[in-house]
Amino acid sequence: MEKQGATKSEWQTIEHALAYLARADKLPHRTEGEKVLLDQIPPNTKRVLDLGTGDGRLLALVKLSNPSVEGVALDFSDPMIERAKKRFANDKHVSIVKHDFSLPLPAKQLGCFDAVVSSLAIHHLTHPRKKQLYTEIFNLLNPQGVFCNLEHVFSPTQNLHLKFLATTGLTPETEDRSNELLNFETQLQWLNQIGFIDVDCYWKWLELALLMGFKP
Ligand SMILES: C[S@@+](CC[C@H](N)C(=O)[O-])C[C@H]1O[C@@H](n2cnc3c(N)ncnc32)[C@H](O)[C@@H]1O
Repeated sequence: MEKQGATKSEWQTIEHALAYLARADKLPHRTEGEKVLLDQIPPNTKRVLDLGTGDGRLLALVKLSNPSVEGVALDFSDPMIERAKKRFANDKHVSIVKHDFSLPLPAKQLGCFDAVVSSLAIHHLTHPRKKQLYTEIFNLLNPQGVFCNLEHVFSPTQNLHLKFLATTGLTPETEDRSNELLNFETQLQWLNQIGFIDVDCYWKWLELALLMGFKP
């Protein structure tokens, strides 16, 4: 039986998972951020971990440009895992791991990676756990490995938050209650403190930001 964090998340319900997947393609400007992310994955990348993979969207994009990549898709939501399994059913180079990343990553089971990617997932963690997870990611990376987090970040003003919500068809009443949004500057500081190099926000549009760093 997999370990479970303190509370069962709404992400583990079919309704919430499907509601997200229905609007996933409509998130404005998302594909621009994904393109910048894909450009930063070194061509010699062999193993990639996708944290909070959902239906495997980001890992599938990585594999489009590099089909021989061995992928590990990690999520804790059964409905999402079902969809990721379907997507990668014919790809023997992808394994699916069920794990709640509010708990330490199963480092031995996962192995090492040339790239760890994540899209719109880590912001569901508490801030202290975000920082711990970034450290665990650093430890999983091979030298010259890259961490790419296309993330939902905190707006500097409430007005900008409302503007972002409006573009996504959400309101303060309907926005995801499991969000723990944090400004991107703090997260970049953490990546630097942990030992990542060439840390920067490589792309940003309102609350969507691509936070990246490389392992020396
Ligand atoms: C907004 S969806 C993003 C899915 C996918 N990465 C994408 O870009 O479409 C957030 C994903 O993070 C997963 N997630 C949230 N909290 C998690 C946790 N504690 N452990 C593992 N996965 C988690 C959810 O189940 C969901 O699949």
